[in-house]
Amino acid sequence: MNDNKTEIIRILKGSGGRPVSGQEIGAKLGITRAMVWKYIREIRKDGYDIQSSPKVGYMLKSSPDMLYPEQIKIGLETGLIGKEILYYDEVESTNSIARSVADRYPEGTIVIAETQKKGRGRMGNEWQSLPGGISFSVILKPSIPLEYAARITLVAGLALSNSMRRLGVDARIKWPNDVLIKGKKVSGILTEVDAEVEKVEHIILGIGINANVRLNDFREEFKKNSTSLEAELGEPIDRVSFMKDLLFELEQQYIKFKTQQFANIVSEWISVSDTIGRNVTVTTPIRIIEGKAVGITNRGALLVQTRNNVREEIIAGRCRYST
Ligand code: BTN
Repeated sequence: MNDNKTEIIRILKGSGGRPVSGQEIGAKLGITRAMVWKYIREIRKDGYDIQSSPKVGYMLKSSPDMLYPEQIKIGLETGLIGKEILYYDEVESTNSIARSVADRYPEGTIVIAETQKKGRGRMGNEWQSLPGGISFSVILKPSIPLEYAARITLVAGLALSNSMRRLGVDARIKWPNDVLIKGKKVSGILTEVDAEVEKVEHIILGIGINANVRLNDFREEFKKNSTSLEAELGEPIDRVSFMKDLLFELEQQYIKFKTQQFANIVSEWISVSDTIGRNVTVTTPIRIIEGKAVGITNRGALLVQTRNNVREEIIAGRCRYST
């Protein structure tokens, strides 16, 4: 959206319900009243309900339930994440787009789409992007060695869990990348790393959230183990406000991560973990490890204590709970 349109929405949102005249808006932006009117008509086409009365001015009655950049940016309290937002109505996968543009955009840029046709999950799985959901990817460029990249998934899981908890649900993290409510998946994280030799070039952090998704919309194979924020809360959430809170939380955790405070992240992560203390079977490309999940290492790996009392460190794998 062009800057003037974003500014007009910002002014109307900030007026506290008071009508604002075309002249006042025009003076603030350095444009004519006729230009203001032209932009108002365009903004209405995007789904904003703006009332206008000739002598009084313009009043914003409602905003569309869309994840438009200008909606997310107004009142966003981050300094890095979400400063630049690439918005699409429909894409194959936001992670694929973010990956292809990562060299050209600054750290913190977000790629967000209302729908994904080929949402990707971990280990070649599909992520079903349903109406009312949230799908986005963040471009991160930390200067860290490759071996620490797995920490980012923990950072994201913690941010998701904290933001969801503020909505009033008991969101817990299943290692490494799922967020669950009462044992059912509400969100998934796909972390993709591009690295040269041992140094990370960029990390694409892909996040899918079943926000206002109806349970009946899940395909049969996902139905049993999936839930949505709307289903758990009994009412839809305000997706735009949730995004602002989540991006802020993500940035707070990311700052801790970059300033070597990973130990704090680990202890917070453990306090909202669904996995630690459980008997697990973890499948990696080369082996299967069975035992009790007992902790997270400094690299962000899961520590599993096997029956022979050996502590195995697992950096990535598929985790199943055993009884
Ligand atoms: C998983 O649960 O296996 C991870 C799911 C990750 C889905 C998100 S949605 C936004 C981003 N784009 C993708 O194609 N995948 C991630």
